[in-house]
Amino acid sequence: SNSTFTMIKPDATNNGHTGAILDQIIKGGFKIKAMKWIQLSIEQAGKFYEVHKERPFYGELVEFMSSGPIVAAILEKENAVADFRTLIGATDPAKAEEGTIRKKFATSLGQNAVHGSDSDENAKIEGDFFFSGLERF
Ligand code: GTP
Ligand code: MG
Repeated sequence: SNSTFTMIKPDATNNGHTGAILDQIIKGGFKIKAMKWIQLSIEQAGKFYEVHKERPFYGELVEFMSSGPIVAAILEKENAVADFRTLIGATDPAKAEEGTIRKKFATSLGQNAVHGSDSDENAKIEGDFFFSGLERF
């Protein structure tokens, strides 16, 4: 489909990379359909990442994602999910391609600057988690 969901994570907002990351997303051809600046509670972050709750890093992930402000957004582009994951690069910034958002702005594997949905189905679920019909177009 043609939309995906992203978050700029607390490491990147706290390190002053929000503007540069949004600039790279927009120059990469993505249109912003909805956006908000928000800090998640532990409970909200835990619910968002429920799919990972059996993974050993779940507690650390939830704590990190609720530790500071994030930018949540719905993005539109042809082939959005796959193209956005190309733009952000590998989960581990040490393995990410040169020029990708994670290569340029991530702190570590756990604190990797941005989230990108991994399927059309999850893009819809994740966008609906953050935005009501009134907040998007
Ligand atoms: P997202 O776009 O954030 O979903 O990343 P991803 O799809 O590239 O990775 P995945 O969904 O497998 O993992 C979700 C997030 O958990 C990652 O982005 C990392 O922030 C974190 N994570 C994944 N693996 C590890 C790990 O081994 N250790 C730690 N501390 N965090 C991890
Ligand atoms: Mg993922």
